[in-house]
Amino acid sequence: MEHHSNDLPWRAVAQVVHVGLDKRGALDEADFDRQLARYRGRVKMVAISGGSNVTGFINPVGRLAAKAHAAGAHILVDCAQLAPHRRVEMGPLDDPEHLDYIALSAHKMYAPFGTGALIGRRDTFERGEPDYRGGGTIEIVTTDWVEWADPPDRDEAGSPNVVGAVALAAAARALTAIGMDAIAAHEAELTAYALERLGRLPGIRLYGDPDPARAATRLGVIPFNLEGMSHFLVAAILGTEYGIGVRNGCFCAHPYVLYLLDVDPEEAERVRMAMLAGDRRAMPGLVRASFGMYNTVEEVDVLVEALEAIRAGRYHGDYVQDQASGDYTAVGWQPDFSRYFTL
Ligand SMILES: Cc1ncc(COP(=O)(O)O)c(C=O)c1O
Repeated sequence: MEHHSNDLPWRAVAQVVHVGLDKRGALDEADFDRQLARYRGRVKMVAISGGSNVTGFINPVGRLAAKAHAAGAHILVDCAQLAPHRRVEMGPLDDPEHLDYIALSAHKMYAPFGTGALIGRRDTFERGEPDYRGGGTIEIVTTDWVEWADPPDRDEAGSPNVVGAVALAAAARALTAIGMDAIAAHEAELTAYALERLGRLPGIRLYGDPDPARAATRLGVIPFNLEGMSHFLVAAILGTEYGIGVRNGCFCAHPYVLYLLDVDPEEAERVRMAMLAGDRRAMPGLVRASFGMYNTVEEVDVLVEALEAIRAGRYHGDYVQDQASGDYTAVGWQPDFSRYFTL
């Protein structure tokens, strides 16, 4: 269920064993236990998302941390999707349920793009040499000797994104001031309402956990498809005709989305060959509605009514699909950005 950014970097440096999923796409914890027992003593790191950016499933990271630690491993939790929506507690190192490392992205927390944070145990960062070497990582350098700086400087090579870091801190403070519990409660209300209304829409298929009663246990990320319609087209109509920004496709989690869609290996291979030949038009994918803290119940109504109309063929544009990207655009659609933005 991982975003590529919590999978591909590990593949470059270690043998990666992927843990299985249940039918809805939630973590199969029995398989987690099996894999941990099978590779006991050889697992260096359990890397797992705190909350999925595709289905919104939240993983029981404290419990998994205790199991990882008992097996001699560290745990890293990808909190990119979780941090703007839930309180994240790393806990003290002497608590078996502590998290050794967390990673988060500023742009998911309402701060500008381009920065984020990797927070982890000091003893790890004190050992060894930095992955990236450069200005700011050293205490002193001669032509044949280097004394590395203490953490965190030794792992922050180059001129830092100062404005990004200041903005990330401001965003974290703002989230804290608003209150993570209030944010979570508002999101649960929107998610329950959306699942309830979307679930009654004819011709929609919801992925992940569609039960409104469990809305408070997951994030407000709702993946779906309209039967017989390309995810590319649905997203284009929502954006163009309703001003609703959804994402569509595989959300940087190709293996997970193919699993959710139950794409068989032959079909996956056909798609892969087409993509390599520069044709993404038949790429499998989902449409994803996701909530920020600014969203409202009325906006859920607009989304549901829009999907009802789209499904019934009541949309106005004449949409053409671009072969290379797979994206649809409405013929003649020319937004006048100068109405909204000036320099
Ligand atoms: C769960 C998850 N992990 C990692 C990332 C990657 O973050 P970034 O875009 O900062 O690389 C994202 C989103 O972009 C995400 O949703």
